[in-house]
Amino acid sequence: MTIGGRSLILMALLLALVSCVPSTGSRGGGVVKAPKQGCLDCHPEMATRFAGGRVHPPVAEKNCAACHLPHGMIGGIQLRANPPDLCFSCHQAQARERGEKAVHQPFAEGKCNRCHAAHNSEFAHLLTKMAPALCFSCHDREPFSRKYVHAPVANGCAGCHLAHGGGATATVGARGGLALPGVP
Ligand code: HEC
Ligand code: HEC
Ligand code: HEC
Ligand code: HEC
Ligand code: HEC
Ligand code: HEC
Repeated sequence: MTIGGRSLILMALLLALVSCVPSTGSRGGGVVKAPKQGCLDCHPEMATRFAGGRVHPPVAEKNCAACHLPHGMIGGIQLRANPPDLCFSCHQAQARERGEKAVHQPFAEGKCNRCHAAHNSEFAHLLTKMAPALCFSCHDREPFSRKYVHAPVANGCAGCHLAHGGGATATVGARGGLALPGVP
């Protein structure tokens, strides 16, 4: 098989525009071969944005490349893989949780970023919101806002439900003494 010189040049140009070929040296648009630079060398403002609150360890280590590929001449975000595979590459325990008996639907569907921030968050576990507000971003609040509420519900949801999944059915897994033991 032969490829014409012209198509080769075209392909190279396309690659430089959209793919992982690192862009040129200075932000102002140098022309020579770039030294290996990380995101923060050219985007120092991002360091401040992703430093507040609880910071995801690879972000705190400024290891942007753990999740991002360098961009070409057109700046933008390119992930090494999309969630959940990106996340499972380091979080194997969570990958195994998918095999649990009862798995919460957004977890099963790999929508990690509906509940977790990838870089940093003001909340524990990198959550985008605290439970129960997090839960009510998808579930109807009404059944939990009645005048008489089961006492443990007033203490949140985690006493009975696991956010990812667990061994019980019916609830999204169940935890501790409030588990639903043996519910088929
Ligand atoms: C653990 C994986 C991971 C690491 C490490 C990581 N990112 Fe990200 N980043 C993501 C994911 C996933 C998205 C897309 C989802 C989103 O918008 O939050 C993203 C989106 C972004 C965006 C576009 C969205 C926005 O908030 O502006 C920027 C910019 C960015 N990352 C920069 C960085 C920089 C700079 C670093 C290193 C300090 C870094 N990232 C480290 C996973 C990561
Ligand atoms: C060699 C310098 C350089 C490196 C390294 C670099 N960028 Fe860029 N980036 C630029 C330039 C130049 C632009 C286009 C001008 C602009 O929009 O500020 C840009 C634009 C962007 C944009 C779109 C515009 C914006 O500011 O939101 C994102 C997102 C981005 N870069 C993310 C990244 C991430 C993530 C990394 C690391 C994987 C990275 N860049 C590495 C130079 C660089
Ligand atoms: C490069 C490896 C790496 C990748 C990729 C990665 N993480 Fe992490 N993450 C870590 C490490 C290291 C920790 C700290 C130790 C631990 O809890 O396992 C952590 C911790 C966490 C925590 C717990 C934070 C806390 O304070 O309890 C959450 C939640 C999390 N990661 C979610 C994600 C999600 C969602 C993705 C995908 C978008 C992801 N991670 C991708 C390395 C990674
Ligand atoms: C419905 C919301 C939700 C979704 C979707 C979700 N998580 Fe979580 N995750 C949580 C909550 C809440 C916690 C806090 C611990 C707990 O309550 O079990 C947590 C905890 C974690 C932790 C820390 C575990 C520990 O023991 O310290 C990691 C890592 C994590 N999640 C990764 C992921 C990954 C990877 C995905 C996508 C496959 C994901 N999560 C999807 C809500 C969610
Ligand atoms: C991103 C959206 C989303 C978020 C956030 C979310 N859920 Fe869910 N949840 C769903 C979907 C979709 C289902 C499956 C359809 C249904 O039963 O409503 C579900 C089902 C459930 C079920 C029933 C499971 C079963 O097998 O019948 C429970 C219990 C539950 N979620 C609890 C929670 C709790 C507790 C939180 C907060 C930690 C939460 N959810 C956050 C989307 C979400
Ligand atoms: C005292 C333990 C307990 C607490 C606390 C609790 N739940 Fe439940 N939840 C259950 C049980 C048990 C079921 C199963 C009921 C059934 O199958 O009819 C359930 C079912 C659900 C369902 C599925 C309902 C349906 O009709 O399919 C959702 C969604 C849910 N809970 C969300 C929440 C949220 C959100 C919170 C926090 C505000 C919460 N739960 C707190 C025990 C609890």
